[in-house]
Parts: sequence; C-alpha cells; structure tokens
Amino acid sequence: MPKLVIVNRAGDETTVDAAAGLSVMEAIRDNGFDEMLALCGGCCSCATCHVHVDPAFADKVEPMSEDENDLLDSSDHRDERSRLACQIHLTAALDGLKVTIAAED
Ligand code: FES
Repeated sequence: MPKLVIVNRAGDETTVDAAAGLSVMEAIRDNGFDEMLALCGGCCSCATCHVHVDPAFADKVEPMSEDENDLLDSSDHRDERSRLACQIHLTAALDGLKVTIAAED
C-alpha cells in the first residue's frame, strides 16, 4: 500500500496508507481532510482539489491533461508544482508521495 504524505494548509504533515488505484484526492478526502472540497467528485471540472506536488515526484506522477491544465489556470495559487489531486492515481512508484493542499481560491 503506497504511503501518502499530506501537508494541510496550516503546514502540518500527516502520513497515511492509501490503496493503489485510489486518486490522491480520494485518499486525502477519505482520511478526513475537510480542506479538500473536491466538489466535482473527481470529474476534472472544479479545481477544488488543487495540490502542490513535492518536486522529488515531479517526474513520477502521470502527465497533466489539457483539461487539467486549463482548470489550474483558473487558480490564483497555481505554480510549477500544481496538480489536481483527482488526476493523480496512487501506484507503488508513488510510495511516499508528498502533496500540500493548495490555498483556497
Ligand atoms: S475534484 Fe474536481 S477537479 Fe478534482
């Protein structure tokens, strides 16, 4: 089971075990982080699951789609580490992935 390190908006770090195949958004939400609104439920249409991915995993996460890229453009808090958590699926290769929940838009 891959481990996922979640940093909340206050900067507190929590490590959780998450089943492979789950999206990072589902793993965060299932572990009770109410900062992760994920309003569209993972359909890549709301951008309320915005996270910043640790640079150490930049090459390991699946590539960004055009839709995800367009949605992230709507955020004032986008940076080069920004991703939508519902578009990253956990695999063994992502064991130890660290993500920070982005500031609310
Ligand atoms: S949950 Fe809506 S875009 Fe990710």
